Amino acid sequence: MKFFIDTANLAQIKEAQALGVLDGVTTNPSLMAKEGITGKNNILKHYVDICNLTDGEVSAEVNAVDYDGMIREGEELAELHERIVVKLPMTQEGIKACKYFSDREIKTNMTLVFSAGQALLAAKAGATFVSPFIGRLDDVSTDGLNLIQEIREIYDNYGYETQILAASVRHTMHIINCAKIGADVMTGPLSVILGLLKHPLTDIGLAQFIADFEKGNK
Ligand code: E4P
Repeated sequence: MKFFIDTANLAQIKEAQALGVLDGVTTNPSLMAKEGITGKNNILKHYVDICNLTDGEVSAEVNAVDYDGMIREGEELAELHERIVVKLPMTQEGIKACKYFSDREIKTNMTLVFSAGQALLAAKAGATFVSPFIGRLDDVSTDGLNLIQEIREIYDNYGYETQILAASVRHTMHIINCAKIGADVMTGPLSVILGLLKHPLTDIGLAQFIADFEKGNK
């Protein structure tokens, strides 16, 4: 399973990269705004900074909602760095743009996916990644993990190579359950990735080992 970090915060990307388990980064316009990155040139520069901090794939989202605008912005983003993945909204225009980029071997990530039908279309358009937002589905009392399961079944039925990128991950059990179901990738905040480390028995056991080691050295 690939681990992506879902942030535009450079310090957090650095920390996740230092762990040695990071496979990529996802961002979106809200995450950019949260870091105070606004204006086209600053945003483009920030994507390059992110690429320079990691050796994985970096999803960079278009802001246009029309086909021509998405192609223009997507091409500009793809030019920035060889590891940029063009992130496109799951709309009619977005699907057309996805096909355009996949025909040119430019990687794509279809975002804001909330149904199996949308994921099926993304695969048919040749998307590299499809991003079902499981946390946002849970927020409206719909089982996000069930959607991952449905997409896994459909993609396996037909051998689609589009990678299922579980997005809007909110807690460690989302990661564990996505791994059990067979999501190819998960993207989440640093705190959730680090949450996987935590177990009280590890802390208690380590404290005991340290105490016993120190006794032996007295
Ligand atoms: C994914 O690419 C999105 O950036 C992200 O996972 C959205 O998560 P949120 O629902 O926590 O905003």
